[in-house]
Parts: sequence; structure tokens; C-alpha cells
Amino acid sequence: MLKVQPILPRFGAELSGVDISKPLSDADSRAILDAMAQWGVCVFRNTGLDDESHIAFSRIFGHIELAPLRGGARTRLNHRELFDASNLDADGNILTDPGMLLHKKGDGLWHSDSSFMEIRSSYALLLCHEAPKEGGETWFADTRSAYDDLPQAMKDRIEGLMGEHSLWESRRKGGVPLTDADVVERGLVRHPVVMEHKASGRKALYVGAHTRSIVGMGLEESRALIRDLVEFATQPQYVIKVKYAPGDLSIWDNLCTLHRGGDYDSLHDRRDMRRTTIRETYEAGQPEDPFARVLDFKLKTLEDA
Ligand SMILES: [Fe+2]
Repeated sequence: MLKVQPILPRFGAELSGVDISKPLSDADSRAILDAMAQWGVCVFRNTGLDDESHIAFSRIFGHIELAPLRGGARTRLNHRELFDASNLDADGNILTDPGMLLHKKGDGLWHSDSSFMEIRSSYALLLCHEAPKEGGETWFADTRSAYDDLPQAMKDRIEGLMGEHSLWESRRKGGVPLTDADVVERGLVRHPVVMEHKASGRKALYVGAHTRSIVGMGLEESRALIRDLVEFATQPQYVIKVKYAPGDLSIWDNLCTLHRGGDYDSLHDRRDMRRTTIRETYEAGQPEDPFARVLDFKLKTLEDA
């Protein structure tokens, strides 16, 4: 029987009582999906999951994205369903490549994974294999409650607006030397600033570090509005911090949360985190690796950085 222990009154829950390393009954799967719809972020401790059971469990949420192949480079993990969210190279050694480290800096800014893709990522399931001694948490913010609490004048102002997103905008904000023209040249993807969150029927804000601009608004005004909305949504009453030990799994719904990676001593401490990611919608015949197009620019940018 699934046990649900809320973290904040409206957001985040610790789940227990179900062994998710084994095949689940329909009732247990349903209960976990319902908990996710309500709480936005759920955490299972000491799961006993390995790569295979992590992938198997993830399938209750939908179609798993395949991690991008990076120019044929060797990867550390043997399953393309697993995105490597570690600070380790293909041989398992701590990454020291300055371009790569700079590229990862944007992950420390509040964002929703893959908001720069036309078909977004819905759920992410992040499993800890090795945790740093200090730091390395994930911070999560509740964009449904933040929307609920916005002043009515702001709700009226943002209703119907479309945000323009790019992976390169968050890299630019993280310090990769890109101009706004570089970001625009790589292509922008549009999503509503206010979205109906289908699983709960509530509304949610959908802006973060990947959001460059608002359709029909100047760049300065866009940036100010995006900053104000992200600052509002990441006030302490909407934020939780998840600290990991090996075996801990956090699950978040990218369509009603923002998250950011917490700092740690990434040049000395190992952090081995592996993530499965679920596609918001999937139809047979869709490209399995749509990231490839976005990342085509990456090698060039890293050489430049
Ligand atoms: Fe992320």
C-alpha cells in the first residue's frame, strides 16, 4: 500500500510502502501516478533500483526518451534510456574539461527540462548512484501554487502569452559566450506561459532559464517579465530541496515544476546521477532522438568557449 508523506502543504511528497524495483500491480502504478499528479515531485528512498529496474519502473509514466548520441562519442552508460546527469566522463573519471563544465553551468539555473523542444518532457526520474559529501541536491519549485498565488493583475497580463525557448539561452545565462543573435539563430520554440496541467486540471507557469523572450514583446520587457515570474515562483514557500543518498529516486513533473541542480565540489567529489525522461506525447514514427538537432551546435560552441 503506497504511503504518501507530504513535504510542503501543497507540494512534494516522500513515497514509501511499495517496492518499485519489482513489477507493480495496476493499483500501485495508478496510486503513484495519482501522487505525482497531486504533489508534482515525489521521492522514494533506498529503492534498490539498478539501471534495468530504473528503466522498467519508468515505463509506467509513458514513452522513455533516448539520450542523444553526442557525435558518436563513447558514453559511460550502456542504456540509451538513461541520461547521464553525473560529473563523470566515459571512463568514470571526474570531468575537468572547461568547455563541458561551462556548458553544465546553466543546469544550476531554474528550468524545466526540454522546454526548448516542441514535444516536451513530462516526467523525469533521477536515481542516485553516488552522492557528493556535501551539496548536489536538487531544488524544486511549485509552478502551480505560484500561479494560483499571483496577483490577479499579473494573471490577466500573462494569460495567452507565448514564451520562446532555447537550450542556448540557458547556456548563455550560465556564461557560455553566446550573443542573443547566436541564440535566435539556433531556433526558438514556443510554448504558452500559462499552461493547463492536464494531470491535475490546475494551471501552471511555464517559464524558466531556457525562456528567452515573449512573443510580441521587446527583449528587455520580455527578460524583465520572465525574471519576475521565475523569482515569484521560486520563493521559499514554493521550494523544496531533495538531498540524495545512493538508491534514492526523485521523480518530477516538468510541466508543473522548475528545478535546478545545487552546487557541490564537482572537481573533487563524484556525483553519479542517472535519469530517465518521459516524452509528453508519443506517436509511432516520431524521431527517437530529436535532441540531436539541438545539440548539433554544441561541439562548435564548446570549441569556441
Ligand atoms: Fe534539468
